[in-house]
Amino acid sequence: MNIRDLKRRVVRSARRTRALPEWRRLARHCDDGDDLGRLARAVIWARDPSPDATELTRIHAIEARRYELLSSDESVSFVDHGAISPDSDLSEEEMYEGTTRTIPLSKVAAASKPQADAWYLYSLVREFAPRTAIEMGTCVGISAAYQFAAMARSGQGRLVTMEGGESVAKIAEETLRGLGYDNFEIVVGRHQDTLPAVLAANAPIDFAFVDGDHAESTTATYQDQILERAADRAVIFHDDIRWSGGMVRTWQHICDSRSAVRAVVDLYTVGVCLVDKSHVGPPTIFRLHP
Ligand SMILES: C[S@@+](CC[C@H](N)C(=O)[O-])C[C@H]1O[C@@H](n2cnc3c(N)ncnc32)[C@H](O)[C@@H]1O
Repeated sequence: MNIRDLKRRVVRSARRTRALPEWRRLARHCDDGDDLGRLARAVIWARDPSPDATELTRIHAIEARRYELLSSDESVSFVDHGAISPDSDLSEEEMYEGTTRTIPLSKVAAASKPQADAWYLYSLVREFAPRTAIEMGTCVGISAAYQFAAMARSGQGRLVTMEGGESVAKIAEETLRGLGYDNFEIVVGRHQDTLPAVLAANAPIDFAFVDGDHAESTTATYQDQILERAADRAVIFHDDIRWSGGMVRTWQHICDSRSAVRAVVDLYTVGVCLVDKSHVGPPTIFRLHP
């Protein structure tokens, strides 16, 4: 192990130790009979998941599909409307215009939620059993499949997922149909254009997963637009909250909310907002850093 890896390990371990009291504080809510209790149970379950045999079969099928995509030697061409890299200096207009990319499919698939974070997504959908869920950033369909696997367990749920790259969306469709899921719609286009119509057509939204362009200029707007069309009680799950300086500021903006967000869970790479439209005041914040 080199010095850099060692330093990283020490920092991670210190972060985990510092977060222990926060995990205990969250765990105290596990028996609450309300949404905060459900949030606590979902997050704690996902940290050390114990799926039953049927759930495990579904998850293995998704991971097999991920492996197939990661092993592919094909390439895919698409227009990327995202920030592309954490230090990107693309303007809002340039992102809207998009960047045409031809890259190995394996690289596109590598942008999918790693399994450790996907368990949080799975567990929240499993616990909250949304009737209507939306996703921004379908990519090749891995995170959508995790949400479907959870919906299969809870026995309800429809997902509308949005993707800018047409060829990427086609691969996602193959992923989802291949896994036997069909209660979905993939809306192809820029989030800036498609989100308002998707929200209007599907409100009230019970669950939203935001994993699209990762830009400061747009993500806070998406949060506000989703909040406006969210059910009175809902969950908004954000990915890559520390991916760039802009995403850190956006997440801070969300944590600084003064109404409608009852609690916020910061899991370092991903963050969860518990929406309660009757809530007034700042959210209760849990910084868990697993
Ligand atoms: C990080 S990947 C999503 C990964 C996926 N949620 C998963 O975990 O399986 C982000 C996706 O969002 C799409 N995207 C980025 N910016 C977008 C925008 N402004 N409008 C539409 N799609 C966008 C990209 O094409 C890419 O496929």
